[in-house]
Amino acid sequence: MKIAIVGLGYVGLPLSIQFAKSSATVLGLDIDTSKVDALNQGNSYIKHIPSESIAELVRSGKFSASTDFSRIHEVSAIIICVPTPLNKNREPDISYILDTGKSIARHLQKGTLVVLESTTYPGTTDEDLREVLEIGSGLEAGRDFNLAFSPEREDPGNPDSKVALIPKVVGGFTPACLERARQLYLMAVKTVVPVSSCRAAEATKLLENTFRGVNIALVNELKVVYSAMGIDIWEVIGAAKTKPFGFMPFYPGPGLGGHCIPIDPFYLTWKAREYGQNTRFIELAGEVNTSMPTYVVHRVADAMNERSKSLKGSSILVLGLAYKPNVDDERESPSYVLMEMLRGRGATVAYYDPYVPVIRPTREHKHWAGTKSIEWNRKTVESFDCVLIATNHACVNYQELAEWAGSIVDTRNAMAGISTRPGQVWKA
Ligand SMILES: NC(=O)c1ccc[n+]([C@@H]2O[C@H](COP(=O)([O-])OP(=O)(O)OC[C@H]3O[C@@H](n4cnc5c(N)ncnc54)[C@H](O)[C@@H]3O)[C@@H](O)[C@H]2O)c1
Repeated sequence: MKIAIVGLGYVGLPLSIQFAKSSATVLGLDIDTSKVDALNQGNSYIKHIPSESIAELVRSGKFSASTDFSRIHEVSAIIICVPTPLNKNREPDISYILDTGKSIARHLQKGTLVVLESTTYPGTTDEDLREVLEIGSGLEAGRDFNLAFSPEREDPGNPDSKVALIPKVVGGFTPACLERARQLYLMAVKTVVPVSSCRAAEATKLLENTFRGVNIALVNELKVVYSAMGIDIWEVIGAAKTKPFGFMPFYPGPGLGGHCIPIDPFYLTWKAREYGQNTRFIELAGEVNTSMPTYVVHRVADAMNERSKSLKGSSILVLGLAYKPNVDDERESPSYVLMEMLRGRGATVAYYDPYVPVIRPTREHKHWAGTKSIEWNRKTVESFDCVLIATNHACVNYQELAEWAGSIVDTRNAMAGISTRPGQVWKA
C-alpha cells in the first residue's frame, strides 16, 4: 500500500518514518523544496530525528519526498500534517489546510482516503476541508472518497515517546470512513481509539491541549503567590506528586511556547463564539500564562537591583531558546518575548542554545534571524551580569554555570541540586 503524507514537519516526518517502517510505502509531499531535497538525500533537518533512519528508508525505496502533488494518483490514502497557526488578530488560520486541500483535490481519485491530522477547531474536516476537496475534485465525501480526522500526539524530544505506542484517536465522516482510517493507522500504531465523528476527534485534541494550558496557568499563578509567601512552588509540586491518585504534576515556566499549547485553545475559543459560548477558563489561563514573561523580567530586575545595577545597561544571557528542553524547535518560544522585553528595558541581550546555533527566519521573529548562540566558555559566560535560564536542556553543564555566572534567574528549577553561592540563584 502506498500512502502520501503532506507536510513533512515535526509531525509529518516522524509519522512518515513510522509508516515507512510498516508494510506501507510513503510519498512525502511538501511545498518546501529544501526539505524535500534534504530528505531525498537521506538528511534529517530535525535534530532529534537521526538522518540514518531516513537514509535507510530512502535507500530501500520505502520513503521518498516530492513537491509534485500530481503524484497523489499513486496513493490510496493521504494524511495531512500542515501548520495551523493564529493570524495577527490571534484567530485561526486554516489557510494551509485549505491550500493543501486544493492541491490534492485536482488529483484526487475515487476510493482514496483523506485524513487530516493538523490541530484545529471542530468542523474543519467535515465543513471546510470537505468543501474544497469536493469542489476541486467533483467527487463526494463518504460516497466517492473517504474522509477522517485523527489528531497528532507527538511529544518531540521525549525519548520514551514512541509513535507506534501512542494510542491514535480517529473520527470518520461516515462509519465506512472511520473503518478505512482505523485500518490505515493499525498498520503503524498499536492502538486506535475510534470516536463517533471527525468533530469529536477534533474536540479531543483541543481538550488535551487546553487541559495542559489551564493546568500550567494554575501552577504559574501559584508560583507567584507562593513566592510572595516565601514558599518554593517546585518543592510543593514535588511533594504533591507523591499522592498516588487525583493529582498530576504540571510545572511553571517563563510563559507558554511551542506550536500547540499557546495556540490550540484559541481555535476552540474562536469556534465557540459562533455558538454564542464563552470559554472563560481558556481566556483566564491565557491571561495568566502570557503575563509570565513580565513577572520573569521583574525578577531579573530584582536580581540586578540586589547587585546595585539597573536592567538598563546590564548584559543578560538567555539560556535556552527552544521552547522545551532537548529539542531544536524555537517557534513561539517565550525566550523571544523575554529577549525583546529585556532589550526594551535597555539591557544588552544574547542567547546560548546548543540546539539552535543560529536563529532561522520565522514568521513571528524576523528581526532575530541570523543571530548566533554565544560560545559556552568561562570567559564569555562570566562577561554577563545575569544568566536567565528559560529552557533547561539536559546537555548544559549547570555546575559550570554556577561557577562562571554572577546572578542566575532560574525559571525551570534547573539549578536544583547544584552547589551555588548564597543569593546567586533567583527563582522566577
Ligand atoms: N509540533 C508538535 O509537537 C505538534 C504536536 C501535535 C500536533 N501538532 C499539529 O500538527 C500540525 C503540523 O505541525 P508541525 O509542528 O509538524 O508543523 P511544521 O511547521 O513543522 O511542518 C509543517 C510542514 O508543512 C509544510 N507545508 C505548509 N503548507 C503546505 C502545503 N500547502 N502543502 C504541503 N506542505 C505544506 C511546511 O513546509 C512544513 O514542512 C499543526 O496543526 C500542529 O498544531 C504539532
